[in-house]
Amino acid sequence: MSDKILKRIKELRKIIKKHEYNYYVLTQPSISDQEYDIFMKELEKHEEKNPQLITPDSPTQRVGKDLTKEFKPVEHSVPMLSLTNTYNENDLWDFDRKVREALLENEKVSYVIEMKIDGASISINYKNGYINSAATRGDGTVGEDVTANVKTIKSVPLKINSNVKVPFPLNDFIVRGEIFMDIEGFKELNEERVKNGKKLFANPRNSAAGTLKMQDPKIVSKRPLNIFIYTLLLNNSNKLQTQEQNLKVLKDLDFNVNPNYKMCENIDEVLDVCHQFESMRDSLSYEIDGVVIKVNSIKQQKIIGSIAKSPKWAVAYKFKAKQEFTRIKKITWQVGRTGAITPVAEMEPVFLSGSTVSRATLHNIDEIYRKDIREGDKIVIEKGGDVIPKVVSVITEERPNKSKKVLPPKKCPVCGSEIYKPEEEVAIYCVNSECVGQIKGKLIHFASRGAMDIEGLGEALIDLFVEEKLIHNFDDIYSLKNKKEEIIKFERLGEKSVDNLLNSIEESKTKPFSKVLFALGIRYVGSGAAKKLADYFLDIDKLINADEDKISSIPELGPSISSSVNGYFSNDINLKVIESLKNYGLNFKEEKIETKGSFFTEKTFVLTGTLIDHTRESAGEEITNRGGKVTSIVSKKTDYLLCGKNPGSKLKKAESLSVAILNEKEFKKYLEK
Ligand code: IVH
Repeated sequence: MSDKILKRIKELRKIIKKHEYNYYVLTQPSISDQEYDIFMKELEKHEEKNPQLITPDSPTQRVGKDLTKEFKPVEHSVPMLSLTNTYNENDLWDFDRKVREALLENEKVSYVIEMKIDGASISINYKNGYINSAATRGDGTVGEDVTANVKTIKSVPLKINSNVKVPFPLNDFIVRGEIFMDIEGFKELNEERVKNGKKLFANPRNSAAGTLKMQDPKIVSKRPLNIFIYTLLLNNSNKLQTQEQNLKVLKDLDFNVNPNYKMCENIDEVLDVCHQFESMRDSLSYEIDGVVIKVNSIKQQKIIGSIAKSPKWAVAYKFKAKQEFTRIKKITWQVGRTGAITPVAEMEPVFLSGSTVSRATLHNIDEIYRKDIREGDKIVIEKGGDVIPKVVSVITEERPNKSKKVLPPKKCPVCGSEIYKPEEEVAIYCVNSECVGQIKGKLIHFASRGAMDIEGLGEALIDLFVEEKLIHNFDDIYSLKNKKEEIIKFERLGEKSVDNLLNSIEESKTKPFSKVLFALGIRYVGSGAAKKLADYFLDIDKLINADEDKISSIPELGPSISSSVNGYFSNDINLKVIESLKNYGLNFKEEKIETKGSFFTEKTFVLTGTLIDHTRESAGEEITNRGGKVTSIVSKKTDYLLCGKNPGSKLKKAESLSVAILNEKEFKKYLEK
C-alpha cells in the first residue's frame, strides 16, 4: 500500500464529507449527485482493497450491512421530557408569569424561540468524539436503539470536528433533536410507493418515524431523512451558560441547527416572533407544528425546574391546524362495513398538511344540517390530528344560486335495499348484509394496518377485485395467489407489485389470533376486546361455543359485545369462512406458555422503577403469560416487588411489609427457567 493511496483516501473522505455538509446542512450542493457517487465508489474501491485503512468515521461506514433484528431498549441517562402545549396568547402570558414567579423579583429573563419541527425526536450519544449510539424517545425514560439507522443520515457527524474550539472540553456528550423528512422528499417517496403498490404515508412525520424503525439501514439510507439538533447535554452541565450558546456551539461542530431561532427579551417580543414564525410556515421546505419557547439561561432553567414529564422553563406554542379553501363538487353516500351509510364530500383536490385531499366525511345528516353544507359550496377544510380532513365551515356568501338542501337517501345507494334507522342513533343503515358496499368495507378493514396489515391491499385494489369478482369473502384473499396471471393483466398492476402484494398476503398468515379476531370485524369487537377474548378463550372453537354470560363475565366486556359475538358465530356463512381461513393456515389459537409449576404461577407481583430490557407492559405480560398476577398496590398479599432503576415509594412500602424484592437480572433468570 502506497502513501499515495492513503493520501487519496483521506482526500476523498474530505470531499465527500464536505459535500454531505453542503447538501444536507447548508442545502447548497457543491457537486452533482453523479460526481458524489463517483467519489464514493472510488473510496469504496480503495477501502475494499485496503480494509485496514477503514476508520469508523469514513463516509462508507454510514450504512451497516446487517439488518436490525430488534430495536433494543435503551435507558436515557437524562429523561427525554416533552413540552406542555399552549394555544393562545393568554397561555403564553401565564407561562411567562410562572417563570418569573420562580425567579427573584425583577430578575431579567430572556427567551429563545425555536421552530417546533414536526418529526420524531432522537437522542444521540457521542463518546471520545465519535457517534456511539442513538435512541428514540420511547416513553421518555426508555427508548429504542436506532443507531444503525441514524448513522445513515448524512447531516449527522460520525465524528465531531476536532479542529473547532469550544468553550468547554467536549468528548462525551449527548445531542438531541428532531429527525424529519422534507416535504419534497416525502412527496417523491409517496409517488414511488404508489407505483409499487405500497401504502402511502399520511404525512412527513409518519414517514420519518416509520423510516427510523425500518430493519434495513440500506433502505433507510435511501430515504430523504434529515435532522435538526437543538439540545446539547454534557456530563458537567455547569459548563453550559445559555441555550443560545449551545445552538452556536452545535452549529460550529457541524451539527444541523435550524437557523430560524430568535432571542427575545420579554413575552411581548415572544408573541411577535410566534406570529412571525407562523407566517413563515408555508414557505419552509419542512413541516413545523408550532414554536418552542425556552428560557435562555441554563442556570435559570435549573432553578425553574420540571414537573413529572415536562420542563417548566419551556413551552410549545402550537399553531392552529392548517386550513385550506376548496369546493364541494358532490355529496355521495358511502356504505361502511357495518352497513352504516355516511355522507362524503367529494371536493376539488387541494394540498393540505402533507397530502392532496379530495374527500372528507360529513359524518351524518345532522352534521350536514348543523353546518349547512350543500353541493357546490365553497368550504374551509382542515386536517383533524393532521390526518383526516374535515369540513370546518361553509362560505355561504359564495354559495351558487340554485343550491339545494341535502336530503338523506331513501334506498341504499350501493345495492338499492331498504334503509333503517335505529331510534337511538343518528346513523342510517343498509339492511342487506350482502351489499357490495358492506362487503368492500369488511375487506378493507380485514386488510388494514391494525388488523391483518396486508401492505398494498387498500381501498382501490379491493374495489377493483370485488368488481372483477376475484374476491368476496375474506378467504378469497388467500386464493389470489392462484390467480396471479389474471391479476397481472390489470393495467395498473406490474408483476413486481403483484408479487409484493401476494407476499404480504402470505406474510399476514403469521398474525396472532387476536389480530385475526379483530380483522373479522365483529361489531363492537375492537382491537382491545379482541385481545381480551383471545387471551381468555385461547382458541376460536372455545369462543364459538361460549354462551353470552361467559363472554360478558370477562372484565371490561359487556352485553353488547357478548351478544354481537354470539350473533356472529350463529351465522353459518361466517363459520364456513372461518373454517376456510383455518385451512389457509391463519392463526385461530393463541400461543400460551405452559404455566403449571412455573415460578410465577399464582403469585402476585407489583412493578416499580425503570426496567432495562422490558417495558412495564412487556414485563407484566411475561408474568401473566406464566400464570402470575400483576397489581399496582403493594400489600401483604404481594409476593414479589419487581424493582427497576429509580424505584418509587413502592420499594419503601415493600420493605416495610417484608415483601420479597426481585431485581431485573433475577427476574430474567426466572423467565428463562
Ligand atoms: S425541546 C425539554 N425544541 O417537540 C425540552 N423540542 O412536544 C424538550 N420538538 O419531544 C424538547 N422541535 O420531539 C424542543 N426546537 C425544539 C423542538 C422540539 C420539535 C419536539 C420534540 C419534543 C416535542 C415536545
